[in-house]
Amino acid sequence: MVPVTEPPPGRCWLDGRWLPLAQARVSVLDRGFLFGDGVYEVIPVYGGRPLRLEQHLDRLEASLGHIRLANPLPRARWRELLAEAVHEGGGGDLALYLQVTRGPAPRRDHAFPAEPRPTVLVLPSPLADAGALRARGAVVVTLPDIRWRWCHVKAITLLANVLARQQAAELGADEALLVRDGLVSEGSASNVFVVADGVVRTPPKGEHMLPGITRDLVLELLREAGLPCREEPLPAARLAGAEEIWISSSTRELLPVVRLDGRPVGDGRPGPLFARAWALYDAYREAVRRGEAG
Ligand code: PDD
Repeated sequence: MVPVTEPPPGRCWLDGRWLPLAQARVSVLDRGFLFGDGVYEVIPVYGGRPLRLEQHLDRLEASLGHIRLANPLPRARWRELLAEAVHEGGGGDLALYLQVTRGPAPRRDHAFPAEPRPTVLVLPSPLADAGALRARGAVVVTLPDIRWRWCHVKAITLLANVLARQQAAELGADEALLVRDGLVSEGSASNVFVVADGVVRTPPKGEHMLPGITRDLVLELLREAGLPCREEPLPAARLAGAEEIWISSSTRELLPVVRLDGRPVGDGRPGPLFARAWALYDAYREAVRRGEAG
């Protein structure tokens, strides 16, 4: 544990400049702080090279569109800024966090300010190695999905996700799978895959879940390799008999799930299709490191 008295290491980009994290300050009138009125992205970087950068910037654009906030920076400036963030983070394997809020307003009022001045934050940090968790396999629990209806928007308003993850942690689990109207939507911070009858299945995109960039990449790699996969609604009742369950996200990449609600998934070890999918993902990461894929 880092003692609380020690300033956090590193720098972030806030409102037009790079500054030490310990000096970065946001107004108490910032609508991100008061209302959770903002959106974010998390972009993985391998060997100093971002994975699926354009797709992340496309999703940012879509999220901003949904909350009716004009993108404060042109695409070229985002690319430049994120390259600076990679440099700030020392290259290597990183997670770039970026956040855009509707900024400070003259007073607390739910309706938009007439002329928003968005707050932009970019924060590089080392990408935590999920290797040990991948080798042991993740433990998950199912919980009711109590979130709002616009889960396709990558909003910073994450209270329901935070509560679900905390409840999972208190139950000794690594992730919560969220269930709405009998269907599994996604994890608290991940998308979900299930292998049943030898076919990889994942819920189709829609308002109930975030369109995960990792999810898209995994599907693309599976299809290229000729492995059967389907995008179809995932009844929660199907989880118990699943041969394999996986979860995906930018920071945890792809993980096998070995326990669900206290019972083993399959034989309780990472499954054979997971091993194939992970080999494909790992090879893709290496190609990104070499600059041969993006
Ligand atoms: N979360 N679903 C939710 C609710 C998420 O928060 C995330 C990622 C995903 C996976 O999306 P992607 O593959 O594009 O990372 C799905 C990030 C990592 C986070 O909040 O830290």
